[in-house]
Amino acid sequence: MTAPSHKPLVFSGMQPTNTLHLGNYLGALKNWVRLQQTMDALYCVVDMHALTQDSGYGHAKDIAQATREVTAAYIASGVDPARAVLFNQSQVHEHAELAWVFNCVARLGWLDRMTQFKEKSGKHKERASVGLYTYPVLMAADILAYKATHVPVGEDQKQHLELARDIAQKFNSDFDAPDFFPLPEPVITGTATRVMSLRDGTKKMSKSDESDYSRINLTDDADAIAQKIRKARTDPAPLPDSEKGFEGRPEAENLVNIFAALADESRNATIARFAGQQFSSFKNELAELAVAKLTPIAAEMRRLLSDPAEIDGLLRRGAEKAHALSAPVLADVKRVVGFVS
Ligand code: TYM
Repeated sequence: MTAPSHKPLVFSGMQPTNTLHLGNYLGALKNWVRLQQTMDALYCVVDMHALTQDSGYGHAKDIAQATREVTAAYIASGVDPARAVLFNQSQVHEHAELAWVFNCVARLGWLDRMTQFKEKSGKHKERASVGLYTYPVLMAADILAYKATHVPVGEDQKQHLELARDIAQKFNSDFDAPDFFPLPEPVITGTATRVMSLRDGTKKMSKSDESDYSRINLTDDADAIAQKIRKARTDPAPLPDSEKGFEGRPEAENLVNIFAALADESRNATIARFAGQQFSSFKNELAELAVAKLTPIAAEMRRLLSDPAEIDGLLRRGAEKAHALSAPVLADVKRVVGFVS
């Protein structure tokens, strides 16, 4: 439980690697937009995390461009820089400083259990960067540098959030500072907390999948969206009339979840609407809905990206605010661990 002494505060972030896709939008961004209405929030473009990926490391121009694109995607999806603090991670040095302290708090055994590291490092763990290994420690620092209490993410980040809670708890107890850090809670809500690949309903929709047909990018135009949905893998049976009918049909379940999330309706409402119909007609409606919801985001992104200096200025102003919030926390951390200042 988060102790009531901690003010409710939302923090989340995305890596600027490739373009964002429907999973990022439905799993995370939609919740960010909702939460900023009622709570103080910080939304970060985690460019330091992106260095752990091949598409980030050694591609300076790409990382800058991807940072602007992700910022534009946040705003085009409804994140309001006048309400939420919007910034890129590398401009606020408190994240890296706190990550070092947390590297000394986290245990190797904890990191060894992280499934995402295992997936990303593949068969050759010894060739993976140390940064990829400590990725979730930096993530804990992102959140706790602000003593954030709520973290809206997709389901795949659950384990990383548990690690952040473990780090917070161990810091509080090791440094005899009860309740210094809150135990941040994941906010994983909606019908699309885990959007699956359009080519394989057992695999997560991901930026790194080599097939572009596996995902809908936020920058796809109407034709691309419609074509990807038309080609999405399904099975020959008609749509089911109840939740039970999804057993052994991950592709059907995924498309229904996507429809429900885009339409802002419950899964049961979508099931009732299409029960017994063929996929061909359902796919037409899904394509129409996806085009209606997503193409305005792409258009707004294009408009914003036509003025990169404006985006850079916005990130700089956000970073100043983020620094003002995290500097006192870091000063307290240094006092608590015993550094002379
Ligand atoms: P990233 O960039 O990999 O993912 C960004 C967000 O999108 C969600 N997501 C999905 N949700 C549903 N279905 C999918 N197929 C799907 N794919 C991605 C992710 O769960 C995530 O919410 N490690 C974080 C970035 C991060 C962060 C943080 C998040 C760094 N520091 C602090 C929260 C708080 C990540 O997964 O980024």
